[in-house]
Amino acid sequence: MALLEKINKTNVPKHVAIIMDGNGRWAKKKGMMRIFGHQNGVKAVRASLEAAVKTGVQNLTLYAFSTENWNRPQAEINALMELLVDTINGELKTLNENSIRLHTIGNTTSLPQKCQTKLQEAINNTKHNTKLNLILALSYSSRWEITNAVKNIAKDVAEGKINADQIEEKTIGQYLNTSQFPDPELMIRTSGEYRISNFLLWQLAYAELYFTETLWPDFREDDFYTAILDFQKRERRFGMTTEQITA
Ligand code: IPE
Ligand code: IPE
Ligand code: MG
Repeated sequence: MALLEKINKTNVPKHVAIIMDGNGRWAKKKGMMRIFGHQNGVKAVRASLEAAVKTGVQNLTLYAFSTENWNRPQAEINALMELLVDTINGELKTLNENSIRLHTIGNTTSLPQKCQTKLQEAINNTKHNTKLNLILALSYSSRWEITNAVKNIAKDVAEGKINADQIEEKTIGQYLNTSQFPDPELMIRTSGEYRISNFLLWQLAYAELYFTETLWPDFREDDFYTAILDFQKRERRFGMTTEQITA
């Protein structure tokens, strides 16, 4: 039986977040430049989008560029920014054909102007799509996001817009970049690295974590389905006991 058919459509994570890792190592294994790995990573993005739509996942966040990635060699940064623009140009039609709506999280004002313009165009161009929210994390880090949230909460308290005593967990969620999306229920990281790398620290509080040795450029629809099937085998207890969950 095909993996897709094994998935229980009534228990699909509402939000899947992916740390797309291993592009550089994939290229190196082939004796190629790191950018060749990034270019081939686009195929895995396409496969993940397809798989998300087919399984009925409504929100997909892809960690595409972290705040820390600004410390990479300038030539690699430039190539990644070019690739971002080219990918949007190449995929916009597919996004609309599949009713995928583009969003970004992160400090996108730090991206080159050309990227910002392209992203804004694509965001506007896809804003009526309803099947899947594709959330690209760009110049994103969770500590940056939380720091900003704290700053904005402090401002709003100072201006009397909110009362410090009334700050709840929900309030903090509302000040994060992800305020309009549910928390990820499944986080996937490729390339055999077992860390979070400053990704969605608040939002992943109760996410199921799935790690695979597969390098990102090799990740395909079946890898996505395998992760979902693994998620469906887990018992999510949220601090309670098995007996309570099954009652
Ligand atoms: C992930 O692949 C893509 C980005 C971080 C932009 P890497 O470029 O981190 O690849 P490895 O981890 O060096 O193999
Ligand atoms: C995390 O991958 C960031 C993205 C996938 C965009 P990295 O490859 O940059 O993470 P570290 O440095 O290995 O933790
Ligand atoms: Mg990496």
